[in-house]
Amino acid sequence: MQAPLGIQNEKRFPVALCPLPDKLPVMKGIILAGGAGSRLFPLTLVASKQLQPVYDKPMVYYPLTTLIEGGIREFCLISTPQDLPRFWQLLRDGSQWGLSIEYREQARPEGIAQAFRIADTFIGQDAVTLILGDNVFYGGDSFQRAFADFQTGAVIFGYHVHDPERYGVVEFDAEGKAISIEEKPKQPKSNYAVPGLYIYDNDVVGIARDLNPSARGELEITDVNVEYLRRGGLRVYRLGRGFAWLDAGTSSSLHEASAYVQTIEKRQGIKIGCPEEAAFRQGFLQLPQLEELASRMPQCEYRAYLEREVIAEAKRAV
Ligand code: G1P
Repeated sequence: MQAPLGIQNEKRFPVALCPLPDKLPVMKGIILAGGAGSRLFPLTLVASKQLQPVYDKPMVYYPLTTLIEGGIREFCLISTPQDLPRFWQLLRDGSQWGLSIEYREQARPEGIAQAFRIADTFIGQDAVTLILGDNVFYGGDSFQRAFADFQTGAVIFGYHVHDPERYGVVEFDAEGKAISIEEKPKQPKSNYAVPGLYIYDNDVVGIARDLNPSARGELEITDVNVEYLRRGGLRVYRLGRGFAWLDAGTSSSLHEASAYVQTIEKRQGIKIGCPEEAAFRQGFLQLPQLEELASRMPQCEYRAYLEREVIAEAKRAV
């Protein structure tokens, strides 16, 4: 993989690698981390929104971890030309975590569905999950079950919110079947917003290629979902009460997301959004590799967590 411009000479993070299996998983992952982050100005003057801290980790760790927990191992991260080098510094080629991460430029922000055009060669013939780089999820196993059950068509989710007009909104009939999806409707037909995690079969590449920009000039992810609905291939799972979908797009929601993560982590003594732990639990990293990774970190709370909780626990179990 080509390193983004200006960072080719940086030293790779040297750890023993867990080889990718011969037969790679058929579900690929796209993390869309573009946008100007204008609502977070001036925070975003020097680092993009998805690199801002959510409590003790960069925001992008959370969606990355969500997909690792779903068993996804091959990623493409899409961001602006100016931000890509920073993502590379943070995530590298992913091999340190037993993953592969490619990078693609979104030169102009022309909508979420543009991701499938930008990453079409990465997707190839496979199914793909797109996650937005500023969506933080926690709780339950709804996503894991959706990944495990996925075969064809599209799977999206519905999450009850108090301000649906800010999102894609899904309407259900009396049987709980999705009957319409609208992007940021002035008069929402339900309180169910569509979170930024979308699972698609390979048809998404053609659907995105054929999309026309919306009135606001964007290739809308909602239009992709409407097309799957029209074809009879869309399933919408409602996320239950115990599930947290946190918005981190404004200064106060970013602060609230941090407070939420801190509260859970302190209370439970676990970490949310820790890619090392998720990769280890998925079997992408073996114990000696995780130990080596931790030993190369500076003395800090993150390292202590990996050593005291994850590694020590795994050693007790063998
Ligand atoms: C986008 C999508 C919207 C979705 C939301 C989830 O909105 O267009 O359908 O509900 O992400 O975060 P945006 O964040 O671009 O306003």
